[in-house]
Amino acid sequence: MKSIAVLTSGGDAPGMNACVRAVTRTALVKGLKVFGIERGYSGLVYKEYRELQRQSVSNIIQRGGTILKSSRCDEWKTPQGRAKGAKFLKELGVDGLIGIGGDGTFRGLYFFSQEHDIPVIGIPGTIDNDIYGTDFTIGYDTALNIGVDAIDKIRDTADSHERLFVVEVMGRNSGFIALNVGIGGGAEEIIIPEKEETLEEVAERLFQGRKKGKSSSIIVVAEGDEEGKSFTIANKMKRISGMDYRIVVLGHIQRGGSPTAADRNLGSLLGAEAVFGLLNGKSNVMIGLVNNQIKFSSLEESWKKRKKVDMNLLKINQFLS
Ligand code: F6P
Repeated sequence: MKSIAVLTSGGDAPGMNACVRAVTRTALVKGLKVFGIERGYSGLVYKEYRELQRQSVSNIIQRGGTILKSSRCDEWKTPQGRAKGAKFLKELGVDGLIGIGGDGTFRGLYFFSQEHDIPVIGIPGTIDNDIYGTDFTIGYDTALNIGVDAIDKIRDTADSHERLFVVEVMGRNSGFIALNVGIGGGAEEIIIPEKEETLEEVAERLFQGRKKGKSSSIIVVAEGDEEGKSFTIANKMKRISGMDYRIVVLGHIQRGGSPTAADRNLGSLLGAEAVFGLLNGKSNVMIGLVNNQIKFSSLEESWKKRKKVDMNLLKINQFLS
């Protein structure tokens, strides 16, 4: 192996830069050439890249986003688009590709590896933490901390005005962020797509809390796949309980800013180990952290299988709130 390429694809996540830095520097130490592909798979289709040196990744470990930029590329979903990418990588002399991203990224990487003879490794980088085969994804810890920090601030007003706040967090159609932000922020209720429950049940629990002396409440809601979900929930709560409410949609604030120490560490570790993996002949795998150990698992499973949220934690929240 003489040269590798690295790209970031899908939603950016804090810690991706730490990972790009680790991939680059580890590969350089091992005597490889490193190409940074720009704008995810789109850079492979349209030949946008730059060669990365040690200095190219200086002073980025603390920066959110991704210096390589990111995108969701429709052309990569077609065999023709992937063939263009393979041709380009061959022209560059690249004999190993590392893709940092979420399930969409791994799906693209998987089909590419089925059609072309270039070894690939996926590194999980998404704030959603919804990737099968790893306990944590790069960016998740930062998103949690941003969410908890927001709730701490919101609670001041919730408490002073004795209000109900509905706080909508990201996570696409999984509830990892909502669950752990809710627990960490001491939310009264957490609503996630993985658990079906009626809003009447939620309102009843809030009502019982009020009877015990609670004067404010915070409900954390996972965005799910239904636009405006938090508005529907807040409206319904008002009708059922009569509580005055406000809604906060955290949105992309959760995806930006400086990565936490945990995300910088995870990005650095997975980045370096992915390069070792390629050098040791691994391909068509995702690298993850399971029980604090590096684990290579099937790239196909990473996007086909669904990682489960800890339903016990959701139950526990009802004792805590
Ligand atoms: O997958 C990361 C994520 O931030 C999700 O939590 C969210 O649903 C989605 O990306 C938003 O995507 P975009 O930035 O394209 O609006």
